[in-house]
Amino acid sequence: MRMYDLILKKRNGGTLTEDEITYMIDGYTREEIPDYQMAAMMMAIYFVGMNDRETLDLTQAMAASGDRLDLSAIPGIKVDKHSTGGVGDKTSMALGPMVAACGIPVAKMSGRGLGHTGGTIDKLESFPGFTTDLAEEQFIRQVRDIGIAIMGQTADLAPADKKLYALRDVTGTVDNLSLIASSIMSKKLAAGADAIVLDVKTGSGAFMKQEKDAKALAREMVSIGRRAGRAMVAVISDMDQPLGQAVGNALEVKEAISTLRGRGPEDFTELCLTLGSQMLVCGGKSSSPVEAREMLLEAVRSGRALEKLADLAEAQGGRREDVYHPEHLPQASIQEEIPAPASGYIRRILCDEVGMSSLILGGGREKKGDPVDLAVGFQIYKKAGDYVEKGEPLAVMHANDETKAAAARERFLNAYEIGCEQPEKRPLIVDIIK
Ligand code: URA
Repeated sequence: MRMYDLILKKRNGGTLTEDEITYMIDGYTREEIPDYQMAAMMMAIYFVGMNDRETLDLTQAMAASGDRLDLSAIPGIKVDKHSTGGVGDKTSMALGPMVAACGIPVAKMSGRGLGHTGGTIDKLESFPGFTTDLAEEQFIRQVRDIGIAIMGQTADLAPADKKLYALRDVTGTVDNLSLIASSIMSKKLAAGADAIVLDVKTGSGAFMKQEKDAKALAREMVSIGRRAGRAMVAVISDMDQPLGQAVGNALEVKEAISTLRGRGPEDFTELCLTLGSQMLVCGGKSSSPVEAREMLLEAVRSGRALEKLADLAEAQGGRREDVYHPEHLPQASIQEEIPAPASGYIRRILCDEVGMSSLILGGGREKKGDPVDLAVGFQIYKKAGDYVEKGEPLAVMHANDETKAAAARERFLNAYEIGCEQPEKRPLIVDIIK
């Protein structure tokens, strides 16, 4: 077999066989197939597309390119959750402890933020001492002992995806449904859970801006997971404005803590309850989402969910008292209100622009390896549909540097569209695909 022939086949509209896909992924992982040939193949796939069978074969070849986590030593049905990424998305930090408090083992692999979206690993590092650098045995032992562990992605998990993603990033071939679905699902399949609940975002802060594209991506991933023998559910949720009120690492941890105390923002709490109830049903802890929701609310009311976060912080090098005293988490030196430039209804908040404003403050990185300022970000008071008087604060900006603050303030204000008519409310939960 020759990679050259496979590129021609795909370029001319052909369908790759399972053997051809395996040959291509194995060769690329072993560095026998060079980047330039793989880049040509990615572009051919981008234009010609892949059918469902090819997408499944690509996913499975990438999942098999490195280690697979064996979670069988953990009793019970292991349920994973994956978000396609957004702004203010601190879901794993509240949802993980909530479902773990209801008896679902949470063995979660998370990533760092990149671009305008944040990452759970950076956020959790707001707890002084917290590490996500766990060995596999330690990770599994911790899930068995306290019901929850969150670790960073190991280098050996789906290495073909790691290489391919970096290549797609610089060759204009990221936003293709088959390539995104196989990239996400290869990591999820290798991470070993029995059931996977996907949170597929749509709107200005999401990867898939259009609802129809988000639904198509969700259907493809559900179908891949199911054909690989996993129980699957995808929730399509709105990301056309930041989730909750906090954007920024430590600020988001504080909001997750408030939510575990039962005092979280309505939209964020609702998303956690929706995803959590699907997880409890998939994990066999409840027979209906309605009953599961009540179990999650009880875990919050009783304080068990918050205690689970304290167990997690302590087990991974942090201090449990920081969960009960979030004022100990990093605080920015400048806290400045951002006044509304005009009176009217908030018609839209360009969510990716809010994410970029936080990045300008130092809350995210422009490239891998950049340091992150954990304390900075925004506490948002006014969201889409709210009325605001000129001069009333839209948000409080948390900053550590005057120059960055000036640039971020301007960018943040550009994200807001204020007008006379109240916009129609977008639903938070757009659809649930099973
Ligand atoms: N997230 C991934 O892991 N892969 C993609 O291709 C897009 C988003």
